[in-house]
Amino acid sequence: MPSPIHPAWLPEQASTPLATAVHVAGTGPLVATVTDEVRAATGLHGGHLEQDPGAARLLLLTLDRARGLAGDTAVSRVLDALDSGPASPERYAVVRSGDRTVVVGEDDHGLLYGTFALLRHGAGEEVLVRRPGHRSRMLDHWDNMVSHPVMGTVERGYAGDSLFFSDGAVRADLGRVARYARLLASIGINGVAVNNVNVHRAETGLLGPLLPEVARIADVLRPWGIRLHLSVSFASPIVLGGLATADPLAEDVVRWWAEAAERLHTAVPDFGGFVVKADSEGQPGPFAYGRDHADGANVLARALAPHGGVVHWRAFVYDHRQDWRDRSTDRARAAHDHFAPLDGRFEPDVVLQVKHGPIDFQVREPVSPVLAAVPATTVAVELQLTQEYTGQQRHVCYLGPAWSQVLTFGLAEQGTRPVHELVQGGVVGVANVGTDEFWTGHPLAQSNLFAFGALAWDPTADPDVVLREWAGATFGSHGDDVVDTVCAMMTDSWATYESYTAPLGIGFMVRPGHHYGPDVDGYEYTPWGTYHFADREGIGVDRTRATGTGFTGQYPSPWRERYEDLATCPDELLLFFHHVPYTHRLRSGRTVVQHVYDTHLAGVERVEELVRQWAALEGRVEAGVFVRVQERLAEQRRSAQEWCDQVCTYFLRHSGIPDEHGRLIHP
Ligand code: GCU
Repeated sequence: MPSPIHPAWLPEQASTPLATAVHVAGTGPLVATVTDEVRAATGLHGGHLEQDPGAARLLLLTLDRARGLAGDTAVSRVLDALDSGPASPERYAVVRSGDRTVVVGEDDHGLLYGTFALLRHGAGEEVLVRRPGHRSRMLDHWDNMVSHPVMGTVERGYAGDSLFFSDGAVRADLGRVARYARLLASIGINGVAVNNVNVHRAETGLLGPLLPEVARIADVLRPWGIRLHLSVSFASPIVLGGLATADPLAEDVVRWWAEAAERLHTAVPDFGGFVVKADSEGQPGPFAYGRDHADGANVLARALAPHGGVVHWRAFVYDHRQDWRDRSTDRARAAHDHFAPLDGRFEPDVVLQVKHGPIDFQVREPVSPVLAAVPATTVAVELQLTQEYTGQQRHVCYLGPAWSQVLTFGLAEQGTRPVHELVQGGVVGVANVGTDEFWTGHPLAQSNLFAFGALAWDPTADPDVVLREWAGATFGSHGDDVVDTVCAMMTDSWATYESYTAPLGIGFMVRPGHHYGPDVDGYEYTPWGTYHFADREGIGVDRTRATGTGFTGQYPSPWRERYEDLATCPDELLLFFHHVPYTHRLRSGRTVVQHVYDTHLAGVERVEELVRQWAALEGRVEAGVFVRVQERLAEQRRSAQEWCDQVCTYFLRHSGIPDEHGRLIHP
């Protein structure tokens, strides 16, 4: 018998507030979803759906319907609150007035999100108005139709197989996708790209013969307010269309894309658009035809324009066949070098999708300077939920604090303009789910999916508050002390992971290929452009303008000066920007080498504490969850020790400097 699927943060108990007479009224396709959701909830708890708004105790209304009930005191309070602020799609308001509760959505999306907010938080006497901080809140699945011999069906997936595809086809049964869509709607996600940015031959067919299958997935996502996007190969006109070229300026190529967009919109009327990885890690792109990335992106955007839909064009373009002997090439510079000169040349429906850091989702990177370098271009920031470089869902690593730091980082206008204001194209996350019974492999990694939704909706939210909300919704029925323990384990888990892995922003040091576990020199002499340059004197990458690659010069002030100067560069990014002696004293007062010993040894101790904290929950949480987390923590303990031993020994052997406190560092 297959294991039951874990409900994540959306158990049926969430519907408790609906033990009453509920009136639902509105326009738009999602109103039926809201009605179904409350019908299930009222059915469970002794309430009922009520036709007469006057007799209802809970009213769920879209704004146009609410205006028709303006004579109702509770409704009119909500209308006043909404009318006193700027209108905004997807906005909602919730209030409890005496014994009545009212939820009003600006549109049917707003009503759906307002309903979930009510189910989760209940209503207070003050009118609560919420609007999304970003219009586009999207997840990219790196799912393959055909299982890859190493990666499986999900590239960098650590949670089972693809939810969408199996054996080269769209799954016959999309029931699991429907459950997933409900989870996503409950956290405000409104776009999903279903296939991998690395588009193999099989997935090219999604644009052609497999369109009816794509439409089946879109039909399942649609009732939850989620638009389907597809990753497409820039070479589709050749691979699928049989043309001799994919040159974006060739007339038959322009026509091919226009026809493909039309076919898509016939099959999927609300098609969200294309995601494109071009001229990146072997994927085809416009460079082959002597064209630039504006030429490439624009041909796709013009094809979509008559129908709606956007092109998410990824800025992850760099030379992955670099010669490590060539110190003048710096991978960190690549996206800015390629895209900053193109600012102003993109069609309005192109969204430049920029990874949050200049390299590749490392545990610590500075924010990508590209986000501030293209003011005339719509940009989106890409985050990675799937824990490729942060423990692969075997280590506990709550990424909310990391993402919050990125989104609130004052990158532009003298440090006053945060990233979340720059990313008018929204927030994109690489998904972390699969067919695993807990969705995410590590049950506690569900928190990252939840936090992504919460921060995409409100980028200023406190990640600790988000964590508590997730833990409460997931473990609350087991008691407050269980929630406290889970939060205590997770709140600093990103910092803990950082403490026993690659230090001070240097990144990588992972085993090549699969990227799990330590290998300090694993990438040092490879073509991938991810080096630490350790020698007997010191370590780090000189990215200064004065003596290095000049990457610091891609930042606006004050960051270019701050990162350039050893005296002001933040400790946690020191080795990202500077090559320093092992004896260099950090702003913390410790030397680099001592910092490495201290943090790594403390990191292992912290993981030992995690093991103990979780052990105390035996019998307090579901047995399946308990055992799965316990197993993963044992592996995290082993792996943290392995990281600690290899990194510390590497520093000891290269520097010859022992630990100040005489602890055992393997010589
Ligand atoms: C990383 C990752 C790849 C992925 C790539 C991308 O390099 O290891 O698996 O394809 O990022 O974002 O395109």
